[in-house]
Amino acid sequence: MNPYLQVAIETAREAGAILIEELSQPAEISYKGDVDLVTQADQRSEAVVVGRLRREFPEHSIVAEEGSGQESASRFRWYVDPLDGTTNFAHKFPWFAVSIGLAEGDDLVCGVVYNPANGELFTAARGEGAQLNGIPIHVSTVAQMSAGLLGTGFPAHKRILNPNIHYYWQFTLASHGVRRVGAASLDLCSVACGRLDGFWEFGLKPWDTAAGTLIVREAGGIVTDWAGRPFQISFPECVASNGLIHAQMRALAAEIAGGAASLSPLPRRSV
Ligand code: IPD
Ligand code: CA
Ligand code: CA
Repeated sequence: MNPYLQVAIETAREAGAILIEELSQPAEISYKGDVDLVTQADQRSEAVVVGRLRREFPEHSIVAEEGSGQESASRFRWYVDPLDGTTNFAHKFPWFAVSIGLAEGDDLVCGVVYNPANGELFTAARGEGAQLNGIPIHVSTVAQMSAGLLGTGFPAHKRILNPNIHYYWQFTLASHGVRRVGAASLDLCSVACGRLDGFWEFGLKPWDTAAGTLIVREAGGIVTDWAGRPFQISFPECVASNGLIHAQMRALAAEIAGGAASLSPLPRRSV
């Protein structure tokens, strides 16, 4: 096995065990923003991941969400989300993950997304395919967005400025539905293993997308921005799919951005 991937897997499992231990304790929540939560579990998990990566690869750069990474001149850079899905975690909703990706320059080398609550370990190494718990996975074969299940997410930061509610509404009408499960790395993995046919989000960070993007690509899917440019982890906007419905997703997004689709009124709630 790719030696970087091997270390990333062991590290994700170690951090995952800490998350499970923390899950049984009352959550101690602090706020980075209005609804941008951080818990002791985020910090403990990051300490384990960054500590291990520093020991194994002292010359590599590490970008970690809670800020304990390190800069270096190396072409290798790790992207660490020690707890993706903090809001779920804080509410004991068992859908969260440790996400660890490695890039060499602009190329993704390996990625691991581990949900310790259900034991699902998604992995990929460049050119070697993607696996769920060691078994190869592939994107779905659904060719029509209207028959697809999609996913999206809403960032905790600057919620009021995010246009996604319009996209959510229109994509819901144009598909079997849109899931918002609360962990972007797992959304990407859900595309990779065919549970979702497509996913998009605005305002993601490299630690949300690095591992999951490689996992989708190695499972045969496509990841771009809305303009169709191959996704790079510095892009905040991410569109992933099985490839077959990608053009349909982009076409609807273009309509929404152009104002046409969003002219349909949102339904009023009767009180
Ligand atoms: C968040 C989750 C969520 C997504 C947000 C992310 P966090 O990450 O991935 O699904 O919608 O944009 O910030 O804060 O739980 O690590
Ligand atoms: Ca995240
Ligand atoms: Ca996080």
